[in-house]
Amino acid sequence: MAFLECNDLIKLYTDEQSKIQVPALRGVELTANEGDLVSIIGPSGSGKSTLINLIGGIDKPSSGEIILDGNIITTLKGRELTKYRRNRIGFLYQLPERNLIWNLSALKNVIVPMRLSGKWSHNIQKKRAAELLKDVGLDQRKNHKPHQLSGGEAQRAGIAVALANDPDIILADEPTGELDSVTTFKIIDYFKQLNKTLGKTFIVVTHDHRFANMTTKAMRIMDGRIIGLHRAIDPRKSFLDREEVLFVDDHGNLRIPINIRNEAGIKNHVQIEMRDGFATIIPVRGDELDE
Ligand SMILES: Nc1ncnc2c1ncn2[C@@H]1O[C@H](COP(=O)(O)OP(=O)(O)OP(=O)(O)O)[C@@H](O)[C@H]1O
Ligand SMILES: [Mg+2]
Repeated sequence: MAFLECNDLIKLYTDEQSKIQVPALRGVELTANEGDLVSIIGPSGSGKSTLINLIGGIDKPSSGEIILDGNIITTLKGRELTKYRRNRIGFLYQLPERNLIWNLSALKNVIVPMRLSGKWSHNIQKKRAAELLKDVGLDQRKNHKPHQLSGGEAQRAGIAVALANDPDIILADEPTGELDSVTTFKIIDYFKQLNKTLGKTFIVVTHDHRFANMTTKAMRIMDGRIIGLHRAIDPRKSFLDREEVLFVDDHGNLRIPINIRNEAGIKNHVQIEMRDGFATIIPVRGDELDE
């Protein structure tokens, strides 16, 4: 059994006005091993935040199951659920103001989650917070308040906060969305470094395709489904030369990416023919069907 398993996750939201149910996730299947650095890449509205919130125990799926380290977490309630969120999950969001308390220093920000969990003694809290800030290169900035930090530094302080209670998984929702390119690459480097040194599992959801070549596992999400993954062409150079592999579900459904559809002129109908041992997809124009 994988460290994290999401089995056929479906999430329906009810539109307040029309009372119609809107699917945000339509059967997500996902697995991650301990120590994986996973990116899930998809456009706005594809279900990224919904998925992260389900794994983090912030919301419940309409159906399906999430299993972390052998424990079913989708049925947790009350105190058990709070304990799960505090001790086993670290969150990192796009906006620093969601990760940090504005009038507290970086050091105190890292101490807050430790106070809440009661997992560490008073002395250890401070020592641990200082060490974590050192791990993210903020040794010299630990007494600064968030507004005295740059965007990248504030995000690094957020990583230290997420790591405070030594969680099993760090869940990051568009963590570099506010940052420029150089700072984005630096943050990804910190993820990679912490992933290696602490062996932590990271799950990052983002619209930024550059994560595909910089994470150990990269998936594509679209319309509430994981539609494919980027795999290394040469496993020895696993971070480079990725190629996209599409999923075909148990019913034979396949999602053809928009760029391929455009280039091949595929609209609503295709034929699939076997040619020389390959399945060939041939576009069929709608007007041909009317004849
Ligand atoms: N509370 C809600 N009530 C109703 N619909 C919702 C709610 N939250 C999300 N949705 C819908 O579910 C779908 C997935 O939303 P989600 O926020 O997970 O997407 P996302 O990939 O995180 O998008 P973004 O990149 O813009 O953050 C969208 O169509 C969205 O409108
Ligand atoms: Mg989102």
